[in-house]
Amino acid sequence: MKIVVIQGPNLNMLGVREQNIYGPMKLEQIHAQMQEVATQNSLEIEFFQSNLEGEIVDKIQECYGEAHGIIINAAAYTHTSIAIRDAIAAVSVPAIEVHISNIHRREDFRKENMIAPVCTSSIVGFGPFGYHLAMMGMIQIFNEIAASQEAQRQAQEKA
Ligand code: DQA
Repeated sequence: MKIVVIQGPNLNMLGVREQNIYGPMKLEQIHAQMQEVATQNSLEIEFFQSNLEGEIVDKIQECYGEAHGIIINAAAYTHTSIAIRDAIAAVSVPAIEVHISNIHRREDFRKENMIAPVCTSSIVGFGPFGYHLAMMGMIQIFNEIAASQEAQRQAQEKA
């Protein structure tokens, strides 16, 4: 099973940008922790960061038929990008969105969220730990899919 982690604009600046909001952890450190969880659970994981909306759309499209789960922090594009929302909806791959900060407690423009309605779940305000929670959530989704496929297989066997 493969997870693709997609990080939007300015997340390459974690550890430098607004540490009072996003903390001191760098993106590479977050990814190293996610890689560990993936390895422990025999999952394939790919990391992608871009500051460009179209590149993020391309990466989501690449997930079609290739990835089993998407973990995405679309960053500022969360609040503006119908293109990213449509791409997630198009590929029918379970997606979990993560926000390091609690976007509901910040400026009003961050309350608009184009991405959440097409995601299975949103994790906000836990800091970088949110990415770990997203890994746990994705493993749960995979387990549920496997269980329902097994139940279907057994039902077909009986029929
Ligand atoms: C963010 C929240 C967004 O509003 C902001 O533009 C970001 C990061 C977060 O992880 O808290 O770049 O997605």
